[in-house]
Amino acid sequence: MPRKLTARIFRGTPRNLSFLARCLRAGDIVGVPTETVYGLAADALNPRACQKIFTAKGRPTTDPLIVHIAALDELDAIAVTNAAALRLAQKFWPGPLTMVLPAREIVPDLVRSGLPTVALRCSAHPVMAAVIESLGRPVAAPSANRFGRISPVMAAHVVEELGARIPLVLDGGPCWHGLESTIVAVGGSELVLLRPGPVTREALQSVAPVVPGSLDSGISAPGMLASHYAPRTPLRLLAQGGEAPPDAAESGLLFFGPDGPAGFACTESLPCGAEDAAPLFFAALRRLDASGVRCIYAGALPESGLGLAIMDRLRRAAHG
Ligand code: TXA
Ligand code: MG
Repeated sequence: MPRKLTARIFRGTPRNLSFLARCLRAGDIVGVPTETVYGLAADALNPRACQKIFTAKGRPTTDPLIVHIAALDELDAIAVTNAAALRLAQKFWPGPLTMVLPAREIVPDLVRSGLPTVALRCSAHPVMAAVIESLGRPVAAPSANRFGRISPVMAAHVVEELGARIPLVLDGGPCWHGLESTIVAVGGSELVLLRPGPVTREALQSVAPVVPGSLDSGISAPGMLASHYAPRTPLRLLAQGGEAPPDAAESGLLFFGPDGPAGFACTESLPCGAEDAAPLFFAALRRLDASGVRCIYAGALPESGLGLAIMDRLRRAAHG
């Protein structure tokens, strides 16, 4: 039997914002827009509310949440900062950068999965900023998808993912980056890149040396499971050379640029520039997933700038 989708999509009007803040204050969870992907929000200081996030997503409580604040001056109350963290915040906040720092006591254990650190982000989306301000407290928000699935970049995607489990989604239009935030662990002298994203490795390097994080290193990146961001349909990377595979006629193709191989049952052509492709990427993957093809083949991009983040998501999707 199909799941009953009951979540309603609300526009981000002042009245709706104050209604949403009341829901959060009462311990409910709601869908909210950010500039990267839509989030599933709860009052970050209310463990019972945050538990609902894990339950709705089907996410293990060993996978900690990102805490969102509305302004840089709220950072100090949540985490212990250092010089590199302050430089990063000044340069990239508000924006698509998440920093992992030693947590203050105030952050509930559940939110950080018992770790001594907390992931912190200050979103540039005006609706998300207004949500945090109306609540007057930090907001915990992972991406608003079922655990391990494709991140939502439109309010309607949140309803597809969680519509039977949450009361409402605040609509902020399509997410303009379309990829989850960059995550760095900020140590004394270097930055450990735990998840590539819209703030590129090259941009981070202008602040401090960047070393790659191991995606399966357990405690340093607990949620970075190899099979994340996966469509339900099996996904494979197109062989180098780019010719069509034998099962093309019953498969879908996600390709960057105009000259993809022919013969696929359906094709999503994205721009060959990673910056232009990123905002369209997850929606294209979602359409291919819904098209009924037996397999999705994906082309490749050069792994610089945002290309690194897109290839990271494709490799994880291919792993499942
Ligand atoms: O763009 C984004 O970051 C979106 C929007 C909604 O803000 N959020 C998001 O959250 O992508 P989520 O939960 O889907 O991904 C956050 C990742 C998870 O893999 C989690 O394991 C990791 O951050 N994380 C959270 N706290 C951490 C910590 N203390 N140390 C290491 N990794 C952490
Ligand atoms: Mg996620």
